Amino acid sequence: MGQLCAALSLLLLYVTPKGFAQTSTVAATPPMGWNSWNHFAGKIDDATVRAQADAMVSSGMRDAGYVYVNIDDTWQGERDAQGVIHANSRFPDMKALADYVHGKGLKLGIYSSPGPKTCADFAGSYGHEEQDAQTYAAWGMDYLKYDLCSFGKIMETAGSPEAAHKLMIDAYEKMHKALLKPGRPMVYSLCQYGADAVWRWGASVGGNSWRTTGDISDKYSSMTQIGFGQAGLSKYAGPGHWNDPDMLEVGNGGMKLEEYRTHMSLWALLAAPLLAGNDLSTMQPETIALLTNREVVAIDQDSLGKQADRVWAEGTQEIWARRQADGSKAIGIFNRFDWPQDIEVDFAMLGFKRTGVKMRDVWAGKDIGRAAGKYTVHVPGHGVVLLKVTAW
Ligand code: GAL
Repeated sequence: MGQLCAALSLLLLYVTPKGFAQTSTVAATPPMGWNSWNHFAGKIDDATVRAQADAMVSSGMRDAGYVYVNIDDTWQGERDAQGVIHANSRFPDMKALADYVHGKGLKLGIYSSPGPKTCADFAGSYGHEEQDAQTYAAWGMDYLKYDLCSFGKIMETAGSPEAAHKLMIDAYEKMHKALLKPGRPMVYSLCQYGADAVWRWGASVGGNSWRTTGDISDKYSSMTQIGFGQAGLSKYAGPGHWNDPDMLEVGNGGMKLEEYRTHMSLWALLAAPLLAGNDLSTMQPETIALLTNREVVAIDQDSLGKQADRVWAEGTQEIWARRQADGSKAIGIFNRFDWPQDIEVDFAMLGFKRTGVKMRDVWAGKDIGRAAGKYTVHVPGHGVVLLKVTAW
């Protein structure tokens, strides 16, 4: 019986669409961790990355599920005569850094571009894909963010949108194949800002996630434009391959508490990668509380991997819901207005037609009783009430 199962799963591995062999071993749930860009941008170095890894452990984030410590753009130095990429002087020993991070039970990630230059004008992987994949594996990397950047210029020479599209797909596929060669499992994170409806083909080039939009900034308007703009993409997400509405801004200071709560709730409902983008070594307790809320993280990480849909919207009020493995639904009731509003939830519309529901207020961490039909919640300005609802 065991042998039969093994043979069947081997068969499945071969008959699944190309690319899924890479994705099946990593990112079964949306990747969680930290990335240097949103807070540190070009001011990132070995000591800062170590400090972030330390803080990921001491803050309790690791125990809440955050594992990837991802170095974004600006780590690159020069290529040597053989074309091998070296880190710049701010990263004296990548292998030692990886050992340090691994020693804490965490994983390390890195960044490159299919173009000759990254967005910050450092060396990209163009023409060196296999070499770079080997180097990352030898260093002990566990994650690659691959950012289109200057490859866009190459695409402009293609002559037609179709030819440009093919160039881009081929470039992402090329790095996917290169990453498979050294045999080290790595999350492959596509970043090309959602161009050419990447959600339709990202998984077929081995992507474990793909950015669906341009860059987020630490403002309510940016975060909500991106977050609420994800409607309709749920069918493309699932174990091993996720829509990525960009990294978190929680704790960076540009939004109010309720706005950051909206950010976390929406990203969890969207089954988005949860990559903190703040300085973990100087976090306030309320930031830690937002990032590590177990029940919110559990929604994001639910094993069914069903991204939420927008089930209802009226002006500045929106309701998003996702089905979870235990049969419950996670429901976010959002108020996009800047002062409080009462919002009515119609449970029949949410699929609870013949039953009443048991409700839990997720952020309050409290069961709040039963309801049948309709229920009204009071939602703070720019805020959310996040419910977990079960039929009874
Ligand atoms: C952008 C990308 C950002 C960051 C930046 C680095 O293209 O969307 O997330 O990686 O490049 O230069």
